[in-house]
Amino acid sequence: MGQTAPHVCGYLTERFSDDAFGSFAGYREAGGYETARHALNRMTPEEVIAVVKSSGLQGRGGASFPAGLKWSFMPTDDEGPSYLVCNADESEPGSFKDRLLMERGPHQLLEGLLIAAWAVGAETTFLYVRGEYAEAASVLARAIGEARAKGVLGPRALGSDFGHDVVLVRGAGAYICGEETGLLESLEGKKGQPRRKPPYPAQRGAFGRPTTVNNVETFCHVPHILKNGADWFRGIGTEQSPGTLLFGVSGHVVRPGLYELPLGTRLDEILFEYAGGVPGGRRVKGVIPGGISTPILPAGLLDVRMANEFLRERHTLLGTGGIMVMDETTCMVRVGCIASGFFRDESCGQCTQCREGTGWLDQLLHRLERGDGSDGDLALLGDVADKMEGGTICSFADAAAWPVQGLLRHFGDEFAGHVSARGCPLDQSFAL
Ligand SMILES: Cc1cc2nc3c(=O)[nH]c(=O)nc-3n(C[C@H](O)[C@H](O)[C@H](O)COP(=O)(O)O)c2cc1C
Ligand code: SF4
Repeated sequence: MGQTAPHVCGYLTERFSDDAFGSFAGYREAGGYETARHALNRMTPEEVIAVVKSSGLQGRGGASFPAGLKWSFMPTDDEGPSYLVCNADESEPGSFKDRLLMERGPHQLLEGLLIAAWAVGAETTFLYVRGEYAEAASVLARAIGEARAKGVLGPRALGSDFGHDVVLVRGAGAYICGEETGLLESLEGKKGQPRRKPPYPAQRGAFGRPTTVNNVETFCHVPHILKNGADWFRGIGTEQSPGTLLFGVSGHVVRPGLYELPLGTRLDEILFEYAGGVPGGRRVKGVIPGGISTPILPAGLLDVRMANEFLRERHTLLGTGGIMVMDETTCMVRVGCIASGFFRDESCGQCTQCREGTGWLDQLLHRLERGDGSDGDLALLGDVADKMEGGTICSFADAAAWPVQGLLRHFGDEFAGHVSARGCPLDQSFAL
């Protein structure tokens, strides 16, 4: 089992402290697989999609795309095989929710996959797990074996006429393989480079066949929605963003960990009440709300509800819900250096403004950090970031530009201070 315990329980994580929940017997005892049995034997795929659509479930992999709508894009008149892909590549710095979902509740995920596979008519699910997640992969392999042995998976899944299997695939450690078409390339044994779209995966996905790709957390909500109904789900969270979300809190907080809370919970409440605030009596300086790609919020803007409709008003996004907290000692130029180094290393290199832009951002930020930067470098930094947005094969380039834009927007004076002081004026900050 992993090191990080969920602190607050909602429907996804409420049984995670019970080790038995991870086993087939324990999951069955908690009523597990009954919802899938009902769906596969008593509901049509269209009925399942209709419930998920009206629940308003949005994807939890970062883009918040409506899950039911995505499922409805799958062709219904195609005679050949179709596939479901579970994106368990989770490589966004600050995000660790999917790991916990897989390690503590593998059968909850498998039940969600089975229901989704029935809905989209997929004969096989490829469960693509981040290469470094060895524990999650071994827990899942065991769970898949149990599910096969008990007839949950197989030619007559849960006693229905639907045949389905789940194939576990291990990634090899590239962030870009989390982008859905980069993942598909990797799944096919090729270099993990995103594809131009269209065609979208529902038209031409894995091995050229119609494919639906969703995130681990997205699938985990599905059995609960089918069991309790779309209205129940819509009763949690906000009108536009229903349900709970797993917020992973890390950095300068007293109680880092995973918190399952309704979407729309205020960021300052998560930080100060659930995560216990900043240790040592220090003040908070900035918070990245949803993984490294999402623009930072300064201390004065933390009274925001954690849902895209509110975060957008503050020029940031929910992303994957990976909240990273930085206290007053933190040098924001160094934060930029860490982010830019990551994106420089992880760009797949197909698009010029991404390949070149990530390198330029990294060089400029390090020059500023060393004290060799000029006012011209500062202007160039903003210019390069702005020119990276839009027009690339995937949104990695945007994701690389946003953290820099956020840092300049809210901490521009600190960046200018590095030019005038010819180095970092914050002597207590972490070192690079
Ligand atoms: C650079 C990049 C990395 C991504 N990494 C992940 C990831 O690790 N896990 C994930 O579920 N989605 C990731 N995504 C989003 C996927 O492309 C895709 O939108 C998602 O898997 C769809 O699932 P959802 O609709 O359930 O959120 C990434 C996107 C980009 C552009
Ligand atoms: S934006 Fe970057 S990561 Fe995405 S395809 Fe282009 S070069 Fe590759």
